[in-house]
Amino acid sequence: MKNFKDKVVVITGGATGIGKAMANRFGAESAKVIIAARREARLREAVKDLRDKGVDARYKVCDVSNLEDTKALADFAWAEFGQVDVLVNNAGIAGIPEMLLDSSRESYQRVFDVNVFGQLNGIWAFGNRMIAQGTPAMILNVISETGLFVAGPMMGGYAASKYAGRAISEVLRLEMPKHVQVGAIYPGGVQSELGGSKEMTQIGMPADEFIDIIWPQIENGEFHIVSHPWAKDYVVEDTAELTQAFDRYAPHFDGDRKYDSKWLAKQMVG
Ligand SMILES: NC(=O)c1ccc[n+]([C@@H]2O[C@H](COP(=O)([O-])OP(=O)(O)OC[C@H]3O[C@@H](n4cnc5c(N)ncnc54)[C@H](O)[C@@H]3O)[C@@H](O)[C@H]2O)c1
Repeated sequence: MKNFKDKVVVITGGATGIGKAMANRFGAESAKVIIAARREARLREAVKDLRDKGVDARYKVCDVSNLEDTKALADFAWAEFGQVDVLVNNAGIAGIPEMLLDSSRESYQRVFDVNVFGQLNGIWAFGNRMIAQGTPAMILNVISETGLFVAGPMMGGYAASKYAGRAISEVLRLEMPKHVQVGAIYPGGVQSELGGSKEMTQIGMPADEFIDIIWPQIENGEFHIVSHPWAKDYVVEDTAELTQAFDRYAPHFDGDRKYDSKWLAKQMVG
């Protein structure tokens, strides 16, 4: 999708950080923008800023971890503009840094409610309606490079949620009809309000620079949308380690096709 003029874009978590920078960019490309998050004051402020820049922007208070709220967001979007062309499932939280052995079901649940169920709720609330529209559409899931590799300890809940986000995006891409593109965005450190820690986020890439890198990938309908070069090195490193394990302990052998899950899935689905 190269031309966003008059396209309707819904961005969750769109009042701050990456979501706001995406709203700015879609708005600059003459899209109509709806941002959604929990804090009305921040939404109002962000919409005012977008409107000052000439963007047709609206907001809706929405907790993405709540399916009814997310369905109400979809109803709002279709009522306001009659269509939704792009959904950006961006809202997310960092969770608390903690060792796995010190963590709890509750701390994992909190992160999963927003990062995993928040994106699923977006897909459930918007997906079928976008398919039914029959026009080119796009669902972009903002995941993280932490869905590609684990940078260090103390981030179990966040990493698990982002690996889940990646899996959900992969499945969605297989299941969506051609006219609804799916994109998985893997930011590394980007300046934002994530985790409420200024020190942590201010050392990241400026959000506008990040958007400049991912924008052509969005326009080209890429599935893997990348930005931070070192992520590639760690993906390559992890893949090399895995490949080595296979080469050593589970190399190919005659007749092994019957154990190929991808091939088997194809036989079953047809
Ligand atoms: N900034 C980074 O370094 C970085 C790196 C990798 C991935 N990400 C991902 O990017 C996305 C955007 O984060 P950001 O960095 O811009 O941080 P941010 O905190 O500035 O933005 C996240 C937004 O999501 C909103 N939000 C949180 N919980 C919500 C809920 N339940 N319902 C609705 N809105 C909710 C927040 O209010 C906020 O506006 C997140 O999914 C995050 O995991 C960020």
